Amino acid sequence: MNHLPTRELGRLEVPAIGFGAMVLSPGMYGEVGEERALAALRHAFDNGAAFVDTSDGYGDEGHNERLVGRAVKGRRDEVVVATKFGFRIPEGAEAHTFPVGFAFGELAVNAEPRYVRGYAEASLRNLGTDVIDLYYPHFPDPRVPIEDTAGAVAELVGDGLVRFLGLSNVTAGQLRRAHAVHPVEAVQTEWSMWRPADPELLATARELGVGVVGWSPLGAGFLTGNVRQVADGDFRQNNPRFSEANLAANHDAYTALRGTAADLGITPGQLALAWLLHQGPDVVPIPGSRTPAHIEENLHAAYIGLHPDTLERVDAALRRVRPAGGTLLQDGGVR
Ligand SMILES: NC(=O)c1ccc[n+]([C@@H]2O[C@H](COP(=O)([O-])OP(=O)(O)OC[C@H]3O[C@@H](n4cnc5c(N)ncnc54)[C@H](OP(=O)(O)O)[C@@H]3O)[C@@H](O)[C@H]2O)c1
Repeated sequence: MNHLPTRELGRLEVPAIGFGAMVLSPGMYGEVGEERALAALRHAFDNGAAFVDTSDGYGDEGHNERLVGRAVKGRRDEVVVATKFGFRIPEGAEAHTFPVGFAFGELAVNAEPRYVRGYAEASLRNLGTDVIDLYYPHFPDPRVPIEDTAGAVAELVGDGLVRFLGLSNVTAGQLRRAHAVHPVEAVQTEWSMWRPADPELLATARELGVGVVGWSPLGAGFLTGNVRQVADGDFRQNNPRFSEANLAANHDAYTALRGTAADLGITPGQLALAWLLHQGPDVVPIPGSRTPAHIEENLHAAYIGLHPDTLERVDAALRRVRPAGGTLLQDGGVR
């Protein structure tokens, strides 16, 4: 197994680039068979992405977690396993809906403390392990104070079922409130060259010593330059940035950035990941891929140093583009 340089998410040491497993469940980026999915996970671990991000909400009946469980079998101590909860609402429990904007409509969670232990026990069974390294509520529950959800995870930490608390898709205020109840090691937020992170969230994370995990660091594939259309059944069809006309406009708008990558002798996807890693030593991207060659290409970005002049050139180019199709806001609105 190769080892990547490491980074610290609070008190948790992880490889500088992790692996986002969502891409391996049906209904996201199209179909992917079990054997291909398992091979991708094993390839990621073998090549150093020994920090895997999953959720009980990816695929039906814990599909994604069960895949991860199969892949870590026999090497559990080599891999940092992060998972999330809240979407598998138990029968009889209320669904707490919230808007996510674009054509995704609404999502529903339930993160009431009384259900959290059950979620964790189900995830532990799916993952075939006796401890979750990093456990996040997937989205804050609009009907439950974040302190209460954090407190429920703190009990699991006390009982040894979970090592560390993470938060996903939260505001700066929610991070601060949860952290006051129990230390948060990582905050997970969408962050890439075409989706700036909330500056207030970043400032709060840094003040509190909380690491930042960037989800969709390749802009759901767009920033690799390879996505020219999205097929039926691909969840990106719900995102106006990927409509036929907007995708073409966006592809043109990012020509300069692809040129910068070419000048550096790296791929556009590697530039996107290296740029994110240069946003701070506390940032860990978790790209997803079904393709061994892509996985290796992505992990190589952990070794790419970008000169300050290059970063300035990239940032100047980013200031000039405004992605067609709008930006989803944390509250489900669109800018
Ligand atoms: N907390 C949350 O709410 C949340 C939300 C979304 C995602 N996430 C996490 O973030 C992870 C990553 O996000 P994501 O999967 O949405 O987006 P992403 O990692 O930005 O992009 C994934 C897409 O990029 C393609 N790709 C990857 N490497 C490539 C390469 N080198 N060249 C060309 N194409 C490449 C993949 O296709 P191939 O398979 O063909 O390589 C896939 O279609 C997820 O797996 C999940 O764990 C969390």
